[in-house]
Amino acid sequence: MSKLHQKTKEITELVLKAQAKAQAESSSEPEPGLTQEITWPVQCLVGPGLEGAIACESKIGYVNGTKGWLIYRGYDVFDLCAHSSFEEVAYLLIHGNLPSPAGLNTFKKKLAQYREIPLTQKALANFPLKKMQTMSALSLGTILMGQEFTENETSLTEAELGKLISSDEDSIPMETKPRGEEHAIYEFAARKKRKTALEVCYHLIAGVASITATIARLRRGNVPIKSDPKLSHAANFIYMMTGEHPTPVQERIMDIALILHADHGMNASTFASMVVASTLSDFYLSIGSGIAALNGPLHGGANEQVIKMLRKVKTPKKVKSWYKKASARKEKIMGFGHRVYKAYDPRARILGPLAEHLAQINPDVLNLFLTAQAMEKEVVETLGKQKRIFPNVDFYSGIVYLAMGIPTDLFTPIFAVSRVAGWSARILEYLKNNRIFRPRAMYRGSFNREYVPASQRTGTKKNT
Ligand code: SDX
Repeated sequence: MSKLHQKTKEITELVLKAQAKAQAESSSEPEPGLTQEITWPVQCLVGPGLEGAIACESKIGYVNGTKGWLIYRGYDVFDLCAHSSFEEVAYLLIHGNLPSPAGLNTFKKKLAQYREIPLTQKALANFPLKKMQTMSALSLGTILMGQEFTENETSLTEAELGKLISSDEDSIPMETKPRGEEHAIYEFAARKKRKTALEVCYHLIAGVASITATIARLRRGNVPIKSDPKLSHAANFIYMMTGEHPTPVQERIMDIALILHADHGMNASTFASMVVASTLSDFYLSIGSGIAALNGPLHGGANEQVIKMLRKVKTPKKVKSWYKKASARKEKIMGFGHRVYKAYDPRARILGPLAEHLAQINPDVLNLFLTAQAMEKEVVETLGKQKRIFPNVDFYSGIVYLAMGIPTDLFTPIFAVSRVAGWSARILEYLKNNRIFRPRAMYRGSFNREYVPASQRTGTKKNT
């Protein structure tokens, strides 16, 4: 058991209790048929928004909507939250197995190294981040990170660095490969090309957290903070964001939040990043498209909307009347419902008690939490029974972050800090048997329309 888990046993207990409750409440649901090998082309019933379409096969993650299961490479997410860490889970998603102690150590060292993105931090400081949406800034930072990534930031030994002429040297590129001294530009280009997709994944998993923390600092007029290689991924992320080392409970809860958001089947942002990657586009641009899709309030942006909604409702007593009016307006209640889950989202089952644990020690957040609990009761008793609509991952995550002093404009970027692991893993897996995504659209327009020169076009004849 890690030192952090030893110091935060009460959090492990809370996760195991949530797991027992989930198992008890879902035991009456039918066991799902195990997924079997499919032979392409495959028959499936497809609804609008590709609902029901099978885009590919995967061994990375499994979501079962009736049982409310979330499984990463065969491991139940409750077990991973109780016993594992985000670093182990990111490694698991990408490589398919939990790392050996030595493998974990190497992976952690790699992430600690790639967290350092001084050139990108400097570049971000030149942009009007206070005026930008945080997810736009995050997407910008992710692209900059790709451009600014030079061999000097990788694991070159001193000796290798010495041999490599400085990347800023201004010698003129030669027409033919020079003999003798390797020419930096050639050497550089060669090495850059050699940067494997896996290295880029590691770079992104480490760097997206550093970029988010940097944006948090710059948006509040603070200078970016250098990463601390001695800290865990979750602890370093909080440290780079706030300048404070987190308490063991804060570090553990952030770590669990990062585990919970890491992967979730073929959701919109994962699919978006895979579509771009399937054109063999740049990896950083592919992750940037995942960030863009995650930004929408129907997807990753809902956690911020939940807080706005709870603040509008104000107190638990006002939930009933507010909900009645919202339902009459057929409003979607933020943080509820899911395309797949027709049961409790297991992530909400863990984030709810974590929010409660933090709210007890944080009075400003307590009222928000109690209002959320009253809202949950109201919705589950109505939409839960009528349409199997339950709390999803976004319902309590915002309260957890607020209780840790994290402002609402960073909630969705934190989702990306975690999901970059799932996006990367699924892109790597798909590229092994790549086929560019190209669905169809059923053409319902006209045919054989005769071209009329503009001068003869009277009113606007509707295109039927
Ligand atoms: C995430 O795909 C993923 O895995 C996503 C995600 C991930 O980890 O990647 O899990 C993360 O995106 C979580 C979802 C966060 N979004 C929200 O909380 C926004 C509010 N939720 C809804 O917008 C909605 O539930 C969706 C978008 C999440 C799912 O929508 P669907 O599956 O397209 O369902 P729908 O819109 O077709 O609704 C079906 C019915 C409708 O009623 P009828 O027209 O049939 O009478 O359910 C109703 C909807 O009105 N409904 C809701 C509701 N969600 C669905 N009614 C009230 N409140 C809601 N939240």
